[in-house]
Amino acid sequence: MKVRDFDGKNVYIVGGSSGIGLAAAEILAGRGSNIIIFARGRERLEEALERIKARKKRDRLRFAYKQLDITRPDEVERVMADAVDEFGPPDILINSAGRALPDYFENISYEQLDGSMKLHLYGNWNTVRALLPYLKERHGYIVNVCSVLGFVGVFGYSDYAASKHALMGLTESLKSELKPCGVGISILCPPDTDTPGFEVENRNKPPETVAVSEGGGLMQPEEVAEVLVKGMEKGKYFIGPGSARMLYLLKRYAPFLVDFVMDRQIRKVQKGNV
Ligand SMILES: NC(=O)c1ccc[n+]([C@@H]2O[C@H](COP(=O)([O-])OP(=O)(O)OC[C@H]3O[C@@H](n4cnc5c(N)ncnc54)[C@H](OP(=O)(O)O)[C@@H]3O)[C@@H](O)[C@H]2O)c1
Repeated sequence: MKVRDFDGKNVYIVGGSSGIGLAAAEILAGRGSNIIIFARGRERLEEALERIKARKKRDRLRFAYKQLDITRPDEVERVMADAVDEFGPPDILINSAGRALPDYFENISYEQLDGSMKLHLYGNWNTVRALLPYLKERHGYIVNVCSVLGFVGVFGYSDYAASKHALMGLTESLKSELKPCGVGISILCPPDTDTPGFEVENRNKPPETVAVSEGGGLMQPEEVAEVLVKGMEKGKYFIGPGSARMLYLLKRYAPFLVDFVMDRQIRKVQKGNV
């Protein structure tokens, strides 16, 4: 399943008020899509909508936002039903909501683990559940935004990596289940990307985590979103921008090498050599 043309398509972007979700919204507005974005904070939604409108391919495209917390299943059902009524049913759903708060395992509370699972696993589950009947009817497309931490566990990301691995499992099962229904699906696994969320992520990063992450480079959200759009056009299941693709192959075919490089970085920091 490929997305042949974005023009005139109704695109629902969860987490579209910032970072990678917003960059995808801006690109797709320029390709002629009608865009509705979802997030919790109204102010950022309003500002993002203006940025998205400024990129529109032509007049008479539709743009809207709705406040939504995807960790609340009843709210997701209600808000998505309203969106379908008011905006029209989705052809494409992009699930980009997420956050990372790296720390040592001993410092991560049960509440933080619970929050990560509710956001990255249950939250994406909730939006797909609410919109799948429409996506099936329209032979639509789903993108779940995961992370390189969906296939590699990294020092400092115990709750985040666990929840993104869970999202990987959900998305792979959906891939197999949705193929006969004509619904396409991709998993986007970005490396470090320079977004407002990444700025928050960096505030409390253990030095070992910084050292391990440095090798992967830093992408811009627009670059990641461009790779995403091209991946959807090709109907690629795994979309790995920048260093993510190489890391994916290394983890699959030479996992000892990934461990070796990460362990060496961590040892250097712990011996005070960095
Ligand atoms: N940036 C990176 O380095 C990086 C790397 C790999 C993967 N990723 C993944 O890429 C995705 C986007 O990250 P980003 O860096 O672009 O983040 P970002 O700039 O912080 O944007 C996150 C978006 O998600 C929304 N959101 C957060 N919690 C939500 C909730 N409970 N319900 C609904 N919306 C919610 C935020 O708005 P509100 O806060 O107002 O709700 C915002 O619109 C995430 O899934 C992240 O895990 C990011």
